[in-house]
Amino acid sequence: MALLEIEDLSVTFPTSSGPFRAVEGVDLAVDQGEFLGVVGESGSGKSVTMLALMGLLPPQATIEAKRLVFEGRDLRKISSHDRRRIVGREIAMIFQEPMSSLNPCFTVGFQIREALGKQGLDRAARRRRAVELLDEVGIPAPEERLSAFPHQLSGGMSQRVMIAMMLAGGPRLLVADEPTTALDVTIQAQILDLLRRLQRDKGMALILITHDMAVVAETAERVLVMYAGQPVEEQAARGLFARPRHPYAEALLEALPERGFGKRRLPTIPGVVPGALDRPKSCVFHPRCRYAQDDCRTVRPPFAPLHGDPNVRVRCFHPRNEDARVAEEAR
Ligand SMILES: Nc1ncnc2c1ncn2[C@@H]1O[C@H](COP(=O)(O)OP(=O)(O)OP(=O)(O)O)[C@@H](O)[C@H]1O
Ligand SMILES: [Mg+2]
Repeated sequence: MALLEIEDLSVTFPTSSGPFRAVEGVDLAVDQGEFLGVVGESGSGKSVTMLALMGLLPPQATIEAKRLVFEGRDLRKISSHDRRRIVGREIAMIFQEPMSSLNPCFTVGFQIREALGKQGLDRAARRRRAVELLDEVGIPAPEERLSAFPHQLSGGMSQRVMIAMMLAGGPRLLVADEPTTALDVTIQAQILDLLRRLQRDKGMALILITHDMAVVAETAERVLVMYAGQPVEEQAARGLFARPRHPYAEALLEALPERGFGKRRLPTIPGVVPGALDRPKSCVFHPRCRYAQDDCRTVRPPFAPLHGDPNVRVRCFHPRNEDARVAEEAR
């Protein structure tokens, strides 16, 4: 059974120029202990999707979904009290800016003990558990760090403390929204390693959100690619990198410096992501798609299993395949 099932999720915000559907038709399932990468350019709806799941969107947002189920519990139907018990404990989320999520006025030790809650532990036991958690996320001399304030920590250390706090409730699912974007490259790699190790050791499911294909390339088991508020492709990471099916996924991969399929010039995707109110009613990617045909300009393709390979889902009338690309490059 899937740990998390989201079906046909949409999120609409009121704006001065009318309602804006920031997220539309998102289908997503995560199994126990699975590592899913979610990739897309800025504004593609990655964060809004996860905030909707967590119930953290502002009240003016309208959330609709056919299914929103965590461990068999329908998140749309449970009380806000029960939801708070799930979110933050069973589903934890870390954000891009660890500094803004830690409270500057309290020590690291205090904040982790708070995150631990009562859990039937006395003060001394909670302190021991806090030290264990800091140790688990690779913080050296954890005992001494308990009395540190957030401003005394580097960016990488703060992110580790955030991860320790999120682990306090023993989550079944950790959502990491661009957890390394604010960090420099070597620290980025260390934090990603840490997340992957925790996911494996604890059998915890992990959703890693990023705009960087290279990040999910080496880590995730499965990847969901989003574009302009919609999922456009989903498949195993290995399959995606060998054979992307959606032209947008293909273009993102070609833009990776180490790829480029033998071309000398690094290709970029021409055009921009459509803005809030100029998203086409047909295929959202067609204005930037080099393979677009008449049907793409008139009808919205469904997000559906690929003909011939049901393990791949793609929102495209003319999915790419290896033969087509080889032919293209031969020209
Ligand atoms: N509270 C809000 N009110 C109105 N529009 C919003 C709100 N929050 C997000 N949006 C819009 O929803 C769209 C999706 O935003 P989202 O933050 O999910 O993008 P993202 O994929 O996470 O991008 P990034 O990579 O920049 O984090 C954007 O166009 C954004 O401007
Ligand atoms: Mg975001």
